[in-house]
Order: sequence, then structure tokens, then C-alpha cells
Amino acid sequence: THSSKAFTGPSPEIAPFIMQFQKGLLGQVASSLPLLTQLTQYYIRQPSKRMRPHMIFLMCQATNGLGSDWHVKLLEAQASALDSQSEGVFSEDVLPSQINLAQAIEMIHVASLLHDDVIDNAETRRGTPSAPAAFGNNHTILGGDFLLGRAMALAASLRSPEVMILVSQAVCTLVEGELLQSGAIDKLQSRGNALEAMVLQRILQTHPDDTELAKLWEDYLRKTYMKTASLFAHALQSAVILGGVNGDQRWRAVAASYGERLGIAFQLMDDLLDFEGDPDKLGKPANADLNLGLATAPVLFALQEDHDLRPLVLRRFKHAGDVEEAVECVRSTRALARTRELAELYAEKAREAISPLPHSVAKDGLMHLTAAVLMRQN
Ligand code: FPP
Ligand code: MG
Ligand code: MG
Repeated sequence: THSSKAFTGPSPEIAPFIMQFQKGLLGQVASSLPLLTQLTQYYIRQPSKRMRPHMIFLMCQATNGLGSDWHVKLLEAQASALDSQSEGVFSEDVLPSQINLAQAIEMIHVASLLHDDVIDNAETRRGTPSAPAAFGNNHTILGGDFLLGRAMALAASLRSPEVMILVSQAVCTLVEGELLQSGAIDKLQSRGNALEAMVLQRILQTHPDDTELAKLWEDYLRKTYMKTASLFAHALQSAVILGGVNGDQRWRAVAASYGERLGIAFQLMDDLLDFEGDPDKLGKPANADLNLGLATAPVLFALQEDHDLRPLVLRRFKHAGDVEEAVECVRSTRALARTRELAELYAEKAREAISPLPHSVAKDGLMHLTAAVLMRQN
């Protein structure tokens, strides 16, 4: 069931691909050991927004045919479809290899959720007991590892070294993002990202000499890119490569920057919902981030208005009453509104990124997705 108006299920153009994606995915994660199959399929069987495949298929539809290698890719796809007498639809909109890519990306995402729920001690996810609550930590970790292995094998079967490298890099960046979030890394190298620099400058304008605040924001934005947006960006770059744009860096860059900006908007909304979302709709408890000691965008904005929050942030809200005080502070400042504004800025920049794409229904879909991300309630 979809509680949000934003994701009322896939648009008609995407629906057949989502169905094929889902059907194949369950088989691809199955093991000869029933326990492992239960583990890997556990989150996949639960209702979800299917954000990543949705975005990938729209980008495929919006870019297939634009690249110089398109005819090569199409012939390869037709040949292998004949070879395998594959069931399901064969369409030039979304190639079978691109459906497989979406499955590999979803497996990586689900693997990261399995490990994340161990790390975060999560009791629930998507409204039901989390995998560690249902299967225990040890089995959950192994389930995630198995999914990663299957994802890599599937990615390798697509026979593009560039895609294999992008998919592998996405995994590495997820791990780095998670480690950065845990506070284990002191300071991360700058990505030299122009949009990030502009955002930081804008946010810190009113606090020019506060180097501590600057570091908190820098780390937060970088961590947000690494734990969420990089997977979006790498997935979309891979999708356009599989569609034959390898010789043409332009469409690759368009896909990467759309993915990155949409991903950051998506995570900002996630961090906002941790404060103002409905736990019933979210399927997980409220204020989870504060309870984990994490200062996300709402807290950083609140910090700019209320300096009393600083010691709480620095001690990761670990004293009794810290979480409640921080919640109160976030609610009584403009923090939540400013977080939404920042998400809106990234969504707008995502729309800008794809403006060079030729007009298509799928391009409209990608534009709409940036709005849907801002309206999401879970
Ligand atoms: C959810 O965030 C978690 C992530 C976005 C990434 C987690 C990454 C790892 C655990 C590194 C290992 C990666 C792999 C591929 C095995 P959250 O905890 O903020 O959100 P939640 O509310 O959905 O739990
Ligand atoms: Mg978590
Ligand atoms: Mg986490």
C-alpha cells in the first residue's frame, strides 16, 4: 500500500519493467539454502517505493537512442534475447541489461539496509520487525554479504568494464559514507564539487567565522552524498552507458549530476521525516537519528539559531534528556523549514541537470520525480 500521494505506483510506461524487475529479482537472490533465501528476500518482498528502479528506468527511456553506440547495444540485446528465449517484454525503451542493472543496484541497496539495521540496532523497518530482529545479527550480516556477491555477479554479466567499475565504486562509497557518519573519520577530502561549495557558502554566510559549524556542514553534505546520492549517480551513469552513450561523456555527466542532486534531496527529506514524519507511515520510530547520536540538517540549522545546542551535538546527544531537548530546539527554530528549502534547492538543481535532454514523456517523469521526492511521507 502506498500512503504517499507522491508514489502512487509506477507510471504506465514504467509498470511492465518494474514487474519484470521484481519477478527476476526474487529468483536472482535465491540460494540453495532456504534460510539464506528467506533473508535475502525478506526486505525485497515488502512494499517499497522502488525509488531506484523507477529512476533508472525513466533515465533509460529518456536517453536510449541518444548515444553513438546505441545500435550496437540494440543488436547485442536482440541477439541475447533470441539466445535465451527470454520471457518478458523486449523493448527498446529499457533494455534487458538495464533491467539487470536495476536489479544489481537494488540488491546493493538491500544489502546496505541489512547491514545498516545491524549497525543501527533497528527494531523495525517498513513497519515490520527488522531483519536482525527476525533473524539475528549474524545471519543478517551474512544475508547482506550474499546479496553483495550476487549483485556483483549480475553486474559482471552485463559485460561492461565501465559499469562494473561504477557499481563496485558505489559499494565502496556507501561503506565510506557509513564510516564517516559513525564519526570514525576525522575529516574527509573535499570532492571539489561546485554545487556543494555554493550551498556551503550560502548556508554559512551568516556565520563566516564559525569553523566548527562549517566542518559539521561539510561533513554532513559529503556524508549525505556518500551514503545515498552516490549510489543514485553511479546507477544512472551505468544505465546510460548500457544504452550506448559511452563515447559521449555529455549524457553520462547529465545522468550523474541528476542522480547526485536527486539523491541529496531524497536524503534531506529522509532526515526531515525523522523529525516531522508519522512513525506509522514511516514504518520506523521517530527521532531515530538523534538516538543514534547523529546531527542531520535539521539539527545543524537549529544550531545556527540556538548555540545551546552545540554541546549536545558534540557529545552526540548521549546525556539523559539530550534527545528531547534537541527535538524541542529543532521544533522551535526555523530548522525544519530551512531543511525543506535546501531539499527544494537540490531538487531544482536536479531538474536543471536534465534540462539538456530532448523532450520526452520519460524526461517529464524525471522532472516529476524531483517533486515526488519532496512530497514523500515515507
Ligand atoms: C540507511 O541510512 C543506510 C544507508 C543509506 C547506507 C548504509 C551503508 C552501510 C551499512 C555500509 C555497507 C554497505 C553495503 C553495500 C553492504 P539510515 O540508517 O540513515 O536510514 P534508515 O532510517 O533507513 O535506517
Ligand atoms: Mg538505519
Ligand atoms: Mg544508518
